[in-house]
Amino acid sequence: MNRILADMDTGIDDAMALVYLLSRPEVQVQAITCTAGNVGARQVALNNLSLLELCGRAGIEVAIGAEVPLEIPLVTTEETHGPQGIGYAALPQPAQQISPRHAVDVWVDQVRAHPGEITGLITGPLTNFALALRREPELPHLLKGLVIMGGCFYYQGNTTPTAEWNVSVDPHAAREVFEAYTGLPEDQLPIVCALETTERIEMRPEHLDRLAEVAGAHPELVLPEQPEGQRSSSDNPLVACLSDALRFYMEFHRLYDQGYIAHVHDAFAAAVAADRTPYRTRLATVDVETSSPLLVGTTVADFRGLWGKAPNARIVVDNNPEQCFGELIGSVGGLARD
Ligand code: BDR
Ligand code: CA
Repeated sequence: MNRILADMDTGIDDAMALVYLLSRPEVQVQAITCTAGNVGARQVALNNLSLLELCGRAGIEVAIGAEVPLEIPLVTTEETHGPQGIGYAALPQPAQQISPRHAVDVWVDQVRAHPGEITGLITGPLTNFALALRREPELPHLLKGLVIMGGCFYYQGNTTPTAEWNVSVDPHAAREVFEAYTGLPEDQLPIVCALETTERIEMRPEHLDRLAEVAGAHPELVLPEQPEGQRSSSDNPLVACLSDALRFYMEFHRLYDQGYIAHVHDAFAAAVAADRTPYRTRLATVDVETSSPLLVGTTVADFRGLWGKAPNARIVVDNNPEQCFGELIGSVGGLARD
């Protein structure tokens, strides 16, 4: 069994990541904590609860953590992910309630209850995880591993010219997390799925068709180029939800001249956490710029030990998009079919 504790700012690609994790029979999602990022933390929680219900998995704890970054005001990005964070998808009001516990309590209690067994997956800003580390500095030793979607080391950022969104929203939290990992044993260092490799996970309309096909839904019912705002008419609720969400994301990417595609960053990170997709990493010492107006949110990696500081990250430098899509579509399509 692969126990995964996820912290998300759901978000279209977070949604894809969550549905993927739920589709893997060997993965046990321990709980989902919610951070503010793509949308506010409460909306993130509602999205996660609705997705759980849509996947027939209500009952998994969903808790809210920090509603704002550590030191700077919150910025959200409804233009990227839609007013509720799920594009054009209309998610039903969830019956399950948001947990009364704080996300930090969930992380600390979970890792203490299952030492060495839980893989942490963070697909949003690092605010909750930084707070959990303050409370329990042994967290890196208590976790089995940690996978982070964040950062950008080749400086073609998606938020500023040099910065990636998750780190940009809370650069102080990211800095604190990397600092806490400095000098820890290599196998405990976070696996960092940075923009260079997550942007290779480029979802296209034909992937939606394949998803519908695996799910046994009629492929013609998914119309990727249909007029903006028009809902999918698929009779399969999970396929319709993902198609409606992803079409919004594709339109957003097209707006920025990236073509009618969607980078499903977080779904790649989830497949890494599930240990179901190949990737290659390089050891580095990462630091984050927190003050310069020009470079705030920029992640800097020292690959050569020039700072004389021990490594604190394993940065993903190569992956296999086709294999990753095979995994995502096969698993999610299977869940939608059953
Ligand atoms: C990250 O930013 C968010 O908008 C996505 O959900 C992803 O986690 C990519 O930079
Ligand atoms: Ca995210």
